[in-house]
Amino acid sequence: MGFNSTVQKSAADKLFERRIKAEKQAERTKAEFFEKCPRARELDKGITNSGVQAARAVLRGGDVVSEMEKLRDSNLAMQRELKELLAKYGYPENALEPDYNCKKCNDTGYYDTDGRTVVCSCLKQALVSAACDELNRTAPLSLSTFDSFKLDYYDKQVDYQLGMSPYQLMEKIFKFCKSYAASFTASSESILMRGATGLGKTHLSLAIANDVIRRGYGVVYVSAPAIAQKLEKQYFSRSDDESLADLLTDCDLLIIDDLGTEFKTQFTVAQFYNIFNARMLRHKPLIINTNLTLSELEKVYTQRFVSRIVGESTKLDFVGKDVRIRKK
Ligand SMILES: Nc1ncnc2c1ncn2[C@@H]1O[C@H](COP(=O)(O)OP(=O)(O)OP(=O)(O)O)[C@@H](O)[C@H]1O
Ligand SMILES: [Mg+2]
Ligand SMILES: [Zn+2]
Repeated sequence: MGFNSTVQKSAADKLFERRIKAEKQAERTKAEFFEKCPRARELDKGITNSGVQAARAVLRGGDVVSEMEKLRDSNLAMQRELKELLAKYGYPENALEPDYNCKKCNDTGYYDTDGRTVVCSCLKQALVSAACDELNRTAPLSLSTFDSFKLDYYDKQVDYQLGMSPYQLMEKIFKFCKSYAASFTASSESILMRGATGLGKTHLSLAIANDVIRRGYGVVYVSAPAIAQKLEKQYFSRSDDESLADLLTDCDLLIIDDLGTEFKTQFTVAQFYNIFNARMLRHKPLIINTNLTLSELEKVYTQRFVSRIVGESTKLDFVGKDVRIRKK
């Protein structure tokens, strides 16, 4: 997938920061250790010097083979002694090596395999997450949190159709969302939030988004009308920018708000269909919010498709009276 230059730069910066952090830490440990144990400094210098001495031996000529053997033995002996000193001073064996976040590419973003240089999965992850940030910049993410969600807006009177009070039901939904966010993984289940206007669907899905983003996952929150328009625009401008459809398919969590209120064309319906389908095939979680009933949704997205979404997600049916009005 292609990414625009802002996204690429921000992902590269993130990896660079990680690399520098690991290297600085190793340098600090080294300095601290050598301060306590000057012999270790000598050994470290000696080991680094072995290479130079080997090169000199080759240039000098003579019995290069036996010279090399001597150098190798002394190098190994120095390494052994250094290891022993590390243990003696209570350091782990690899304390002087940078502890890179990604062992595969040492936080460079690239590694070699079969003589080819390939992009590491950690860089791909950083790109997706930077692209999500870019897309979320306009979303009102920070306002809606679990802390600002209040249950007092829901009636405590038992509703006999529900078998409990709206308060009790919404408390269950609230707790479910909170623990969903806290235990989120890239293969968590999907959620379908339904209910009339003003009951907190957007609020709770943004609260989930906030928590999941903070835990380092790539989350995209979009409203269906806005994203339908963007998809269409990108398609018709045939831009080479990052493919929006790919990002919506690849991010760890996709939240589509207000499904059903978008302006529907054959193209946007097909795009949504493809994105949802690709995610479901790969067991990637999706949160859908709608105030349409299932049969209304079926009119747009076919019965087969809607029943598939319903079958693969936890349904949360929001109840109560419009909080927007109650808040006034
Ligand atoms: N339980 C709650 N505690 C505090 N604020 C709430 C609560 N529920 C909703 N709100 C606030 O009320 C407003 C409307 O809620 P929200 O947008 O989440 O409703 P919705 O279910 O998404 O409605 P719609 O179907 O119209 O999109 C928002 O400002 C939201 O922050
Ligand atoms: Mg909403
Ligand atoms: Zn890597």
